[in-house]
Amino acid sequence: MKKYNVCMVGIGAVGTEIVRLLRKRNFPLAQLTAFATRERTEMIDDLPVDVKVATGPESFKGYDFAFFAGTEGAKGASKTLGWGAAEVGCCVVDNGDDFRMDPKVPLCIPEINPDALKNHQNFIANPNCSTAIALMPLYALHREAKIKRIVCCTYQAVSGSGGAAIRELENQVRAWAAGQPIVHEVYPAQIAFNVIAQIGSEAKDLPGYTSEEAKLGRETRKILGDDSIRVASTCVRVPVVNGHSMALHVEFHHPLSPERAREILSTTAGVQVVDDLSKSVFPTPLDASGKYDALVGRIRPDTSVENGLSLFVSGDNIWKGAAQNAIQIAEKMIELGLK
Ligand SMILES: NC(=O)c1ccc[n+]([C@@H]2O[C@H](COP(=O)([O-])OP(=O)(O)OC[C@H]3O[C@@H](n4cnc5c(N)ncnc54)[C@H](OP(=O)(O)O)[C@@H]3O)[C@@H](O)[C@H]2O)c1
Repeated sequence: MKKYNVCMVGIGAVGTEIVRLLRKRNFPLAQLTAFATRERTEMIDDLPVDVKVATGPESFKGYDFAFFAGTEGAKGASKTLGWGAAEVGCCVVDNGDDFRMDPKVPLCIPEINPDALKNHQNFIANPNCSTAIALMPLYALHREAKIKRIVCCTYQAVSGSGGAAIRELENQVRAWAAGQPIVHEVYPAQIAFNVIAQIGSEAKDLPGYTSEEAKLGRETRKILGDDSIRVASTCVRVPVVNGHSMALHVEFHHPLSPERAREILSTTAGVQVVDDLSKSVFPTPLDASGKYDALVGRIRPDTSVENGLSLFVSGDNIWKGAAQNAIQIAEKMIELGLK
């Protein structure tokens, strides 16, 4: 079996899980290199990982795949290094937002739109974490009854903001328990024992919404290949370490009963139905953490609209929302003979 040279750019919350999952999934690895902003050796589960600094396209020569998990924006890793890596033949799988809506960049969830990978130009985008988790149950229901409109309220973990945010929540909880002043730097308000109704900055193209809320709509339309789907969302940061959850209220073109939805979802790849209200069985972010599947429950009619269905989903934002989906993209490309 062929083995692949892999590198990753960024070894924070997502990069660390990429290393763990490459090992856990027995990815056919020949060589693994990590790039970040400074050289050092990082210990991941007692195994040393050498971290280097990438200087330009030449740093990516000889690599088959590069998982980008650095910071976003003009000076971020993907904008400065991504296309250079692609041009020297390395297939970039980018976790950030910089190129997701670029028409020449496939935005892919392998269970949903693997065909998007065909005709790739060595640059693939991984969706936003909330979009990836929400679409795991929704794509199968869309195929059955065609989605008209989604109202989505998220409950997003601090790990979605990277390693510094996890430390901020932990430090605030310790300070609270010790009766000390609570300091916040990563978030605009205290996150311990609080919720924050702002994720990202103000959206340029959607007045009144945040950038995270805008991503949910446009990425859903691109991945499902349906520009007619309307999405309204409120994205909220909650004091959960890992695992994003969301309440989804979905209006379909055609009728879809909760029983039929449960039947479909029980055979949907990447989804696990966890749904028995009489026994207080429903998804939680703690249960979803460290699982490949998105957990779905609280499946019930949305009686406020015709053909409406409500559901609650929890998923591991660092796994399916980032590292796992990125690796699945590489695995799918190998399976399809695209690399
Ligand atoms: N966390 C999530 O749930 C999630 C989900 C989906 C997508 N994403 C996206 O994934 C990316 C990484 O997120 P994260 O949460 O892992 O962030 P993080 O914990 O803050 O880690 C960022 C890593 O990127 C490295 N880095 C930053 N700028 C770089 C550059 N110009 N060149 C090379 N390396 C650079 C940093 O290097 P040093 O270690 O040397 O400082 C660090 O290792 C972001 O684009 C984020 O939006 C995150």
